[in-house]
Amino acid sequence: MYLTDEEKSMHAGDEGDAVAAAMDLLIRYGEALGAERLCETRNVAGTMTQPSPAKAKLFAEGGWAKSYAVINLDCDDDIEIPRMKVPMCQLQHGFTGEVKGLSPYPLKNIELQDDAEAFFSDRGVNVLATCTPYQVGNLPVRGEHCAWMESSAVVYCNSVLGARTNCEGGASTGAAGLTGKIPYWGNHLPENRYATRLVRAETPVASMQDWGLFGYFVGEAVQEERPAVTGRLGQPILDELKHFGAATATSGGVEMYHIPGITPEAPTLEAAFGGHRMPEAITYGAAERRAAYEALNSQGTSEDVDFILLGCPHASLTQLSDIARMLEGKRLHDGSELWIMTPRALRSVADRNGYTAVIEAAGGHLLTDSCPAMSRTAPEGTRVFATDSAKQAHYLPAILGIEAWFGTLEECIQAAVTGRWRGELAAA
Ligand code: F3S
Repeated sequence: MYLTDEEKSMHAGDEGDAVAAAMDLLIRYGEALGAERLCETRNVAGTMTQPSPAKAKLFAEGGWAKSYAVINLDCDDDIEIPRMKVPMCQLQHGFTGEVKGLSPYPLKNIELQDDAEAFFSDRGVNVLATCTPYQVGNLPVRGEHCAWMESSAVVYCNSVLGARTNCEGGASTGAAGLTGKIPYWGNHLPENRYATRLVRAETPVASMQDWGLFGYFVGEAVQEERPAVTGRLGQPILDELKHFGAATATSGGVEMYHIPGITPEAPTLEAAFGGHRMPEAITYGAAERRAAYEALNSQGTSEDVDFILLGCPHASLTQLSDIARMLEGKRLHDGSELWIMTPRALRSVADRNGYTAVIEAAGGHLLTDSCPAMSRTAPEGTRVFATDSAKQAHYLPAILGIEAWFGTLEECIQAAVTGRWRGELAAA
């Protein structure tokens, strides 16, 4: 792989052992991928504070420097970890002390994470602690090379913002933070960003639930390819695109889609394909919509719901405002738990705006930093949960061994207040 003089110098150790280890990792990674060179990035979103048994063991052996060296740099040497070279943020991690008393989430994880936050904050990592960094100030511009993890954020970064990232891992982002470099391959190359599949909606896609259902269908249909989607699409808002992309990356492995007129690189359908011949369209109609809905509800049998989960991906202020409005003056059903996930930075705005007070007065909890799927926890004794997120409905039954219902926000709030699931697919 071609290396610039600066990269050779970093590899030789001129900027210290950690940077040399990081460059070594990037060279091995890039060569394995067939990348011809590295490219510069000044936007890294990774994870290093998330507690795990492996990190706890390494931390006990040699502190957070040891953990970062082994897990984020694939290096067994005892090295110091300097300040990150380029802006880097921590994505979602484990729950904080907010969850004490709400679930059996281990206290030692909370303590470990608090300790990691202090260590990595000192090294310049911005602890955004969310799967939606783009909602709280990390907004790369069109064409910018990024190194992001988290599938729902990656697809948003490429498709909505027009910035460029592959779906990176803890090691490649760890190395990118210390060097400002990432292999130039995959979604970084313009020719790899054109659409390869065409999906036409023949039934309207206009509500939050419909964007989730459509995304779930598209991901299943195209798997890891790049779809251009057209047809009867309403004007989406940020939250709908957030749910759509997360769903495409759940049932499939979509990292980039094109919506003509929305995706920056696709002013037209022809531009989405870069002038290449378009494939025959895959059709999304009423039957496909119904099938996606039934697949997402295939894990539900009991209508007695004990846990309602909202905010996957993490909720925006618009969503929190909607939830607070629906809960105003209501009380949750005895024995029902309602958790709403949001970024830590938005939680402080929700507090100021009174949304948190309304949610808590109803008996719900506004939580930050994590989610039940990421932290593998839910209220003690949960058997059946309901959500408006295709991603959580897909993953949580397998992770926690519980039943799932997928519906609209209104249906989820109704379930929280009555303890009963009454969802059904409305006409599009
Ligand atoms: Fe975020 Fe958890 Fe969903 S990390 S995207 S809320 S599965």
